[in-house]
Amino acid sequence: PLSAHTSLGVGGRADLVRIRHPRRLPELVAFLAQHGAAWRFLGGGTNLLVTDADLEDVVLQLARDSGELEFRDNRVQVPAAANLGTTVMECGKRNLGGMEGLIGVPGTVGGAVWMNAGSYGTAMGDVVRAVTVYHGSSGKFAELPAEKVRFEYRHTGFAPDDILLSASLDLPERPYAAILERIKQCNQKRRACQPINEKSAGCIFKNPPGYSTGKMIDELGMKGTRVGGAVISERHANFIVNRYGATAVDIFKLMDLIRERVLKAYGVELQLEVVVWKN
Ligand code: EPU
Repeated sequence: PLSAHTSLGVGGRADLVRIRHPRRLPELVAFLAQHGAAWRFLGGGTNLLVTDADLEDVVLQLARDSGELEFRDNRVQVPAAANLGTTVMECGKRNLGGMEGLIGVPGTVGGAVWMNAGSYGTAMGDVVRAVTVYHGSSGKFAELPAEKVRFEYRHTGFAPDDILLSASLDLPERPYAAILERIKQCNQKRRACQPINEKSAGCIFKNPPGYSTGKMIDELGMKGTRVGGAVISERHANFIVNRYGATAVDIFKLMDLIRERVLKAYGVELQLEVVVWKN
């Protein structure tokens, strides 16, 4: 069940293949093609809303132990499946900063690069020098410099069948104590403003230019609104939390309600920030 592989804790069943040796991806992808099986790639599952129905596509995911961090001067090569928070800390211990704001963002480094995750003034794309990617469409591996990735607000130019394998980061040198201090501040802010102890996929909608979606939903008095097992967080209104065994349908209904109310009150059409998987 993908509910066991997503931070929101919803989603139907799927065939899941864990990849321990990324070099063998061409074999796997060719094998799936031979059998007429379409596939999708799963990162850490922390920004993902999966439908309740069983998924027709095969799901591929990199095994967590599919590589190690390699440091050289102020550059680090990070496997895509590495945990983002652990990576921030490991770099910090070596006096490498620049990612402090991302502490507390759950998920993998690959997922953070893919979505250009951002928080407290830091965006992942700011520190990426290059990425190694497997292009499912051509069956080729490539190293892309950051300029070719097209980092935008919570968006990059990757194709759905591009699999990120690793990222090379260039990080500014900074004393460990200063890095820790900034990390502490960010953790405190996040604890106060986001429902970090509940099941969620982070912010559901993007912020339209010049607006805060959380603020709009809050001003509409929608915090605490419940559909089935899904609730609009009282701590941050752009978070939907799975508090009472929600289904994806509950969450979709709550999202529709938010979209309608915000459109009516503010004339703004909200865009999804989470990735949605349906058949
Ligand atoms: N606000 C409210 N009520 C709420 C939520 C927010 O009044 O329920 C107000 C705040 O008081 C503040 C303003 O809205 O004045 C902005 O809030 P906040 O600083 O929490 O930032 P945000 O714009 O809501 C963005 C990102 C978050 C990221 C934070 C911190 C998006 C969609 N959200 O939220 O990212 O953690 O800034 O940098 O860009 C995510 O991507 O999943 C995510 C959580």
